[in-house]
Amino acid sequence: MKKIFCQIAKSREEILECYKIRYEIFVCEQKLFSESDKDKNDKDSVHILAKRNGEAVGTVRIFMKKNNIWFGGRLAVLKKARRGDASKLLVKKAVEIAKIKKAKRFLAWIQVANVNFFLRLGWKKIGNKKDYLGKPHQLMETNLS
Ligand SMILES: CC(C)(COP(=O)(O)OP(=O)(O)OC[C@H]1O[C@@H](n2cnc3c(N)ncnc32)[C@H](O)[C@@H]1OP(=O)(O)O)[C@@H](O)C(=O)NCCC(=O)NCCS
Repeated sequence: MKKIFCQIAKSREEILECYKIRYEIFVCEQKLFSESDKDKNDKDSVHILAKRNGEAVGTVRIFMKKNNIWFGGRLAVLKKARRGDASKLLVKKAVEIAKIKKAKRFLAWIQVANVNFFLRLGWKKIGNKKDYLGKPHQLMETNLS
């Protein structure tokens, strides 16, 4: 049985594991960034790390934008751990943490290819798609009540 746990990345080592996974996916796999996908939001983000049998396989970050409105982003699961529970557990943990932070709203800009994944998890579309880094993204929101 493959056991998956999602936890807040607290140590520097764990946060570096998150960045490493993001590099693998957003720079190498998707080529959305040429050198690094890190940005100013990382400093104030809660980084969440998914481990499968102790091995880091996925990550997501959440941060407050303004007025207690929180955003999730950089959801990434290594290819070898896709089609399993890692991605759903990461989103579940992100929502749990947003609730603990007493977020008023929790939103995310989602690549159009992943909209169905979020719809299956109960997220709703908000407004129209927008291009970000040359890819169409859909703003989505989950119900925190
Ligand atoms: C988005 C992501 C976290 C979803 O995790 P997952 O484990 O793949 O989730 P699922 O198994 O539920 O699959 C999600 C979708 O990807 C498709 N998919 C997953 N692995 C695939 C593969 N190897 N080949 C083709 N399609 C695949 C599934 O069919 C599903 O499509 P659908 O929603 O239209 O039915 C993961 O695919 C990923 O890290 N992708 C790269 C980074 C990314 O796009 N991040 C999201 C930014 S908004």
